[in-house]
Amino acid sequence: MNYKFIIDSDIANAETLPGWFYNSEDVFQLLKEKIFLKCWHWIDDKSIFNQFSTCPFFILPDYLSEPIIVLKNPSNDYKSLSNVCTHRGNLIFDKPSNSNNLICNYHGRKFDNEGKFKFMPEFEMTKNFPRNCDNLHGFPIKSFGNLLFVGFNPGFNIENVFSIIKERVGFMPIDEFIFDENLSRDFKINSHWALYCDNYLEGFHVPFVHKDLNKILDYDSYETIIYDHCNLQIGYSDNKDDTFKFPKNHIDYGKNIAAYYYWIFPNLMLNFYPWGLSVNLVQPKSINSTNVSFRSYIYDKNKLNYGAGSDLDKVEHEDEEVVENVNKGLKSSFYKTGRFSPTKEKGVHHFHLLLSKFINK
Ligand code: FES
Ligand SMILES: [Fe+2]
Repeated sequence: MNYKFIIDSDIANAETLPGWFYNSEDVFQLLKEKIFLKCWHWIDDKSIFNQFSTCPFFILPDYLSEPIIVLKNPSNDYKSLSNVCTHRGNLIFDKPSNSNNLICNYHGRKFDNEGKFKFMPEFEMTKNFPRNCDNLHGFPIKSFGNLLFVGFNPGFNIENVFSIIKERVGFMPIDEFIFDENLSRDFKINSHWALYCDNYLEGFHVPFVHKDLNKILDYDSYETIIYDHCNLQIGYSDNKDDTFKFPKNHIDYGKNIAAYYYWIFPNLMLNFYPWGLSVNLVQPKSINSTNVSFRSYIYDKNKLNYGAGSDLDKVEHEDEEVVENVNKGLKSSFYKTGRFSPTKEKGVHHFHLLLSKFINK
């Protein structure tokens, strides 16, 4: 089957993704290679490196399940390598460690800190060895504040995304935000991951689905700004107490902004509120199951109970219900594709356009 599809770049002409995109197991698997292995992934924050110098991670468990290691060297630089031994595939680290010695404990293969093969017992007679692929695969790693990102053959430069985000939120000391475990949760959603993103990417549903949030946000002023591989939704509020206090040279100085909702293609949301940052990582599990991790990083805890970022659990459950209903609706044999509101669904259109570009490559 040909899975290519065209999303018209003119939103007024465009159709939404077809129902089969969300229902096909084959497409779900194809997205690994076409999208998730061509993008950046949020790993975690740097706090674990206060205790350890080497940490293993799985990127998108149950989907890519890609094992990586992150090493912090004494000059505070980070490096990322594959955590898979190039002999017979054992995991080199299965827990955080303070050892920077990359030695596989299965048959003793050694690598240097750059991942280059160094030594292997009983391999003297092996011909044409070591080859390039006997070194550990290296991945680019970047940070934004305290957040670490790894790239898998990324099709774009994430530093450009960071610059775009810093333009508006760089006035806050992002690298001093403190992680709060009590305000962090995982949500299991019975839907395709892309439906969760579709819903996130428009404020159109706010008056219908989030009646309380709608009292805080000024729906008519709600704005969406499209960039190359990220976009921004801006939530305004009439109540000055719920909004950011900008310095005079800020691009939005004088505006009453309650939230900046940044989305990075394909599955990460960085939501900034006057109290700090809520990171939402959307993790595909199956065509009908997604895990969404909410991680809270606090800047000003006195503002936690005010404004658009005050009751995230309630907003999340309201979103969950509608997204799960859409997932059921899209199983219909009679639904083909939808259309976009040019004024209210620019973010969803941007997402569908990027998906089609990456898939058609
Ligand atoms: S799998 Fe690592 S040394 Fe054999
Ligand atoms: Fe919502």
